[in-house]
Amino acid sequence: MIDSISDEELDALMQALKNRYGLDFTNYEKKSLKRSIVRLMMKHKMSSMLELWARILKDKEFFERGIDDLLVNLTELFRNPDAWLVIKDRILDHYAAKHRLSVWHAGCSTGEEVYTMAIVLEEKGMLRKTRALATDLSSIALKKAKLGDYSLLILEQYLKPFLSFYPSKKLADFFNFNESHATIKPDYKSHVTFQKHNLVHDDMTIKHDIIFCRNVMIYFDEKLKLQVLTLFHKSLADDGFLIIGYYDIMPDSGKELFEVFDVRTRIYKKKKLKK
Ligand SMILES: C[S@@+](CC[C@H](N)C(=O)[O-])C[C@H]1O[C@@H](n2cnc3c(N)ncnc32)[C@H](O)[C@@H]1O
Repeated sequence: MIDSISDEELDALMQALKNRYGLDFTNYEKKSLKRSIVRLMMKHKMSSMLELWARILKDKEFFERGIDDLLVNLTELFRNPDAWLVIKDRILDHYAAKHRLSVWHAGCSTGEEVYTMAIVLEEKGMLRKTRALATDLSSIALKKAKLGDYSLLILEQYLKPFLSFYPSKKLADFFNFNESHATIKPDYKSHVTFQKHNLVHDDMTIKHDIIFCRNVMIYFDEKLKLQVLTLFHKSLADDGFLIIGYYDIMPDSGKELFEVFDVRTRIYKKKKLKK
């Protein structure tokens, strides 16, 4: 079984993916891509890069499922509950008097972050005036996000962060349960548009008040991080908020575009650029 991949092998595979599927991973962080590729090969009991290469290029379905393994779509309901407290008590209060609120979840994975925000918005009485755009480059993750349907095994893992945010509530307040699955109640979904969007090369023409991009840029190198942060700066309304993940590090170049709002929870505010 293969346990390491050289830079040359990685570059060649990524170039082939770019040519065949138009997906550009050249500025993704190499170490984590290599780890994900080894994991993918082990999962499919492949012993050489050549075998992986042939399968990925020939079999589009395998490629689409493989993308999910490569990109790590790990997510959670109420991930980092203390960040959600700041969002509820400080950010949403800031918009209380505004008639419309626009939120972009960039890299929404299977939707848990989107539904967490919907639950918090509902509590603040702000759900009806909100439009949310939830995007990801993985079609498989987006399909799951749109369904908002999770196995009970998965939901069980979300209980701890959920209860830490809402000690006296139940998941059944927000999800319709059946034997092995639970589906988010329609009220928490109707304000969301799910859309395929690749942060590496797709534009954003709408301005948003709040952008979430949590645990996505950890996989990007510094150059790509700055490119994506520039897109977020352009896509935020004046004094809009950018929320990144606990393990995301704002590069020095990004500090020209965003100022810290709450350092502990990795929440930033758009800066006005000097002319
Ligand atoms: C670890 S998940 C984060 C999910 C959620 N934001 C959270 O923090 O719980 C990372 C997601 O980023 C998506 N992603 C990676 N590269 C992307 C890109 N270039 N454009 C859009 N989404 C991307 C992956 O498909 C994956 O669903």
